Amino acid sequence: MKVALVTGAAQGVGFATAKLFAKTGHHVVMTDLQNIEAQANSLMASGAKVTALSGDISSESFVLELAQKIASEHGAADILVNNAGISLIQSAEKTTIEQWQKIMAINLTGPFLLCREMGKQMLARGRGNIVNVASIAGLHGVIDRAAYNASKHGLIGLTRTLAAEWGGRGVRVNAVCPGWIKTEMDVADQGSGAYSDDDIVNRVPMARFAKPEDVATAIAFLAQDDSFINGASLPVDGGWVADASWDALRLKSREPARIP
Ligand SMILES: NC(=O)c1ccc[n+]([C@@H]2O[C@H](COP(=O)([O-])OP(=O)(O)OC[C@H]3O[C@@H](n4cnc5c(N)ncnc54)[C@H](O)[C@@H]3O)[C@@H](O)[C@H]2O)c1
Repeated sequence: MKVALVTGAAQGVGFATAKLFAKTGHHVVMTDLQNIEAQANSLMASGAKVTALSGDISSESFVLELAQKIASEHGAADILVNNAGISLIQSAEKTTIEQWQKIMAINLTGPFLLCREMGKQMLARGRGNIVNVASIAGLHGVIDRAAYNASKHGLIGLTRTLAAEWGGRGVRVNAVCPGWIKTEMDVADQGSGAYSDDDIVNRVPMARFAKPEDVATAIAFLAQDDSFINGASLPVDGGWVADASWDALRLKSREPARIP
């Protein structure tokens, strides 16, 4: 049975990914800062094999504990999904050093530590598969998100570097780059008044938010065995980054029923 480790598995994209791997016969190792017993129990109730461990992925000692647990129970994970992340909407000139460092610690240092520790075990076995959850904010600039965007650009840089470094030793590393997703992160960000549903829906050629399941499906696609995809940053965005049209032009080409 293949083992898939998913971080930030309590909710949103992480929980959708854990559910998909459970449904497709993986032993899922779920981790999150929050207590995840209820989510783990719900997957076990449908017959899945699940291990749950709560902790902070930006803490090196927690990552080492997690790596030790996986090494002793499974030898290595087959799949690592670096999904846990946090948002910050703040202008560059008002971003404090504490805010910057917290974003970097969780969105970039944590995934690096997990790649390093799980990667070592995968390399020793000569196979493994890592998917990092970046963002379209890792491919392009978005105003008022200097720290968040820099962390996601960094995660894509890490993905490319590890793909190059480890591809010849059986370990593939890719990233997904979602557009705006309807999760608790979006609820909190919209709660600050930063944007509305219409702002997003109007910007997306496919005229909707991503669903957590859209992202989970793309993660599972990249994590398939026998793939030749390595070092990719796959947009999961309904066409957002492909589209340089101005809003009026995009809306003119849209079925009237899809205009909010
Ligand atoms: N929601 C969006 O619009 C959107 C868009 C693009 C990319 N993303 C990225 O997708 C990923 C998942 O986002 P989501 O929308 O599901 O977010 P979410 O806030 O719903 O879930 C994130 C999970 O990560 C956990 N987490 C946070 N800090 C942690 C830490 N230090 N250690 C362990 N777990 C921690 C949280 O407890 C939470 O369960 C993130 O990396 C996010 O940056 C989200």
